[in-house]
Amino acid sequence: MLTEKQKKLTQLKEVLAKGGGDKAVERQHDRGKMTARERVIALFDDKSFVETGLFVKHRATQFGMDTKQAAGDGVVTGYGTIDGRLVCVAAQDFTVIGGSLGEMHADKIVRTQEMAMKVGAPMICINDSGGARIQEGVDSLAGYGRIFYNNTKASGVIPQISVIMGPCAGGAVYSPALTDFVFMVDNTSEMFITGPQVIKAVTGEEVTAQELGGAMTHNSVSGVAHFRAADEQECLLQIKTLLSYLPQNNLEKPNTVDCFQDPNAMIESLNSLIPADPRTPYDMKDLIHSVADGGEFLEVQPYYAQNIITGYLRLNGESVGVIANQPRVMAGCLDINASDKASRFIRTCDAFNIPLLTLVDVPGFLPGTQQEYGGIIRHGAKLLFSYSEASVPKVTLIVRKAYGGAYIGMCSKHLGGDIVLGWPDAEIAVMGAEGAANIIFSREIRAADDPEAKRQEKIAEYSEGMMSPYIAAERGYLDDVIMPEETRQRLISSFDTLRGKRMTVISKKHGNMPL
Ligand code: HXC
Repeated sequence: MLTEKQKKLTQLKEVLAKGGGDKAVERQHDRGKMTARERVIALFDDKSFVETGLFVKHRATQFGMDTKQAAGDGVVTGYGTIDGRLVCVAAQDFTVIGGSLGEMHADKIVRTQEMAMKVGAPMICINDSGGARIQEGVDSLAGYGRIFYNNTKASGVIPQISVIMGPCAGGAVYSPALTDFVFMVDNTSEMFITGPQVIKAVTGEEVTAQELGGAMTHNSVSGVAHFRAADEQECLLQIKTLLSYLPQNNLEKPNTVDCFQDPNAMIESLNSLIPADPRTPYDMKDLIHSVADGGEFLEVQPYYAQNIITGYLRLNGESVGVIANQPRVMAGCLDINASDKASRFIRTCDAFNIPLLTLVDVPGFLPGTQQEYGGIIRHGAKLLFSYSEASVPKVTLIVRKAYGGAYIGMCSKHLGGDIVLGWPDAEIAVMGAEGAANIIFSREIRAADDPEAKRQEKIAEYSEGMMSPYIAAERGYLDDVIMPEETRQRLISSFDTLRGKRMTVISKKHGNMPL
């Protein structure tokens, strides 16, 4: 028999759990969106979610707020487990005053962030909000400021994941931007600093909200987002998959997963991956899938700067971050966007103790005024900086081309690659043989009776004398030249060897990364 007080508690919780009420929930569903609570329940293990701050109320009194009920002040916060591992969450509830962020709403998010940092658990923030609660003025702005501050404090300590499942506009976008991963959903997510109306008024440009800040825009054009899903269910599954590759915090390693494949198996199909003509592209993803446990690869930013591939796989059950040139796109050249994408990924892996595998087939940095004026020097430097700074195990495999500064930049021995391997097709040089022969033998070529025959002769001479992997191996820049079929076995043994890697770094406040 329940007491009156116990009955009151049950009733109160039931009412508050309804958020903004049936009509607002119906509106949310009509738009193809789940409510905040539905999202959290779908994300967490069955019955594991524990809500905190359900009774929190706003303290605003102006502009009608004194009579406005706001369940949980428009945000569902708490913790629970995902695949058995602790995760903290804050999910904005659009059914309550449009999920707008006031003083107490922000306070709940801040407390959850602090809990996540204290216990060393990943923090997920699901954004679905009209932004700063207009009635609460500067208190709303202060709330955002506190969240940004905590995002920065937590950076590199716990994985931070932002999920955009509705509007996220104005300064509110800076919390996701400060976190490690941003997920977006087709048609319902929007992120922008200023919306279509403001843009029209200021610049005259006409653009829809989706064109301006939809999931595909931020996944393929701006590079702000890392993952895109067709709907919310798919998005939640993607988050779970990503978490499986990450550790709980910077003091832990990612979980090891059982692998039932023979780690010594040869993969003969790799012997014929590289086309006979060095200018013919192939798909680097074939190599990635061939070496990965179960062929599984979680690509990060698959739509952005596709000339470089980033993502996670497992080798004999261990999580590994992959950075690979993609010869199918722009011949695998490095440009501004590829440098930014790879650098960010390297730093995320390094912060969370995920070893790095670099697969190299790079003809150089992309030439052009657009790149030079855009600051390829500054952006390319980020790649060198992040590789040099990373202290996790670093294994590099030079598959084919590795020319010039791009060779150095793709985690060569010189930037601290711990184990650097090459395939027999590896060409390590200042530039391609043709360009090199044209420059250094130009006088001889011009003076020859048959200049083209001479040119071909000199190209072959340079190629033989300078570009074979054995020249780099003789100097110790390659630790070994391996048969393609041995790749998975050698990668597994390399990462096994490096598992206990320790590095002492010079004590300093922090480096000054080129930005
Ligand atoms: C207070 C808000 C609100 C806000 C929405 N609501 N946004 N209340 N402050 N920022 C309320 C609405 O009044 C409404 O309340 C309910 O939420 C649902 O909103 P609707 O407008 O009915 O929904 P919809 O048609 O879907 O439109 C959603 C919307 C629109 C596009 C987000 O509400 C909107 O434009 N809101 C204002 C956005 C904005 O300018 N925010 C400030 C951005 S600047 P009722 O009671 O009618 O149900 C910013 C600065 C942050 O955020 C700075 C950080 C550093």
